[in-house]
Amino acid sequence: MSDLELIKREWIARIDGARDLAALEAERVAALGKQGAVTQLLKTLGAMSAEQRQSEGPRIHALREAVTEAVAARKAALEAAELDRRLATETLDMTLPVELGPQGSIHPVSQVMDELAEIFSDLGFAVATGPEIEDDWHNFTALNIPESHPARAMHDTFYFEQTDAGGNRMLLRTHTSPVQIRIMQQHKLPIYAIMPGRTYRSDSDATHTPMFHQVEGLVIDKGITLGHLKWTLETFLTAFFERDDIVLRMRPSYFPFTEPSAEVDVGYHMENGRRVLGGTEKWMELLGSGMVHPKVISNCGLDPDEYQGFAFGCGIDRLAMLKYGMDDLRAFFDGDMRWLRHYGFAALDVPTLSGGVGA
Ligand code: PHE
Repeated sequence: MSDLELIKREWIARIDGARDLAALEAERVAALGKQGAVTQLLKTLGAMSAEQRQSEGPRIHALREAVTEAVAARKAALEAAELDRRLATETLDMTLPVELGPQGSIHPVSQVMDELAEIFSDLGFAVATGPEIEDDWHNFTALNIPESHPARAMHDTFYFEQTDAGGNRMLLRTHTSPVQIRIMQQHKLPIYAIMPGRTYRSDSDATHTPMFHQVEGLVIDKGITLGHLKWTLETFLTAFFERDDIVLRMRPSYFPFTEPSAEVDVGYHMENGRRVLGGTEKWMELLGSGMVHPKVISNCGLDPDEYQGFAFGCGIDRLAMLKYGMDDLRAFFDGDMRWLRHYGFAALDVPTLSGGVGA
């Protein structure tokens, strides 16, 4: 066997014996690198005579070719083995439950607002909103509560120093009723709308927080009576509390912006020391309502002889407390994660009339 044949066998044996890609690379450099053995052999061609070069040249080139091929073959084999090893050892258990990490929840106030929107949109009502920073005129004057009216004192209003361009004092709205004024002024009649949102009064104890939530209801159309008001409230509260035995009692009352006005009580009873709505055993006050005062209708540029309507206003936080059995209003706004985890609602539990508004 010629020397070259021996050299070839030796290199091929070394290459085939490389255990991994790093060892193979070392062999490749040792044979074919700049200082490699095969490269050195090729360099000897320059010093040969023409005949010698003619016979040795093809043999040395064939050697380099064979070694190069051996390296490529070994590399492919090692890579395939590595892939097989990974496929055999790396596993992914598709049956494991997904880890969800930290989760938020829907605050009961937001949940109740969604429930209200669901119930009232089924009755053909739109949802409207207005600014929380209001002016004197929308919050009081337009609602038939003039400057000297004692009802202003009852509202424990947070006033700002500033006035608007027209000289009206700015304030944090004390109720959602100014939104009634804003939508009546738009004159898109008839109006069937609810207006949920934040309201503010300087008051704080277990049942009052300086910021709280109300929902206002407003209907302005032709031929609207107290009967429409009562039916609407009964339909709303029966759907909201998901009970057939909700009974309402309307008591004559006074609000400057409604005439006649009625305070609405709802019947309840006690079950295991807890208030449960339904029946007529005991009564509690739930909301204020009435027929929109003709002066309020004309303050908004509408003709009270042509249009009538009813309005009601109700505390949303109170609705949530009654429905979901919480007893301290202040906890609603503490942002305590434990409370939110306990009373909050899953994000996908969207209230629907068919699925139950309480989800
Ligand atoms: N705005 C009244 C309040 O906050 C409630 C109310 C609204 C009463 C609409 C009658 C009609 O006390």
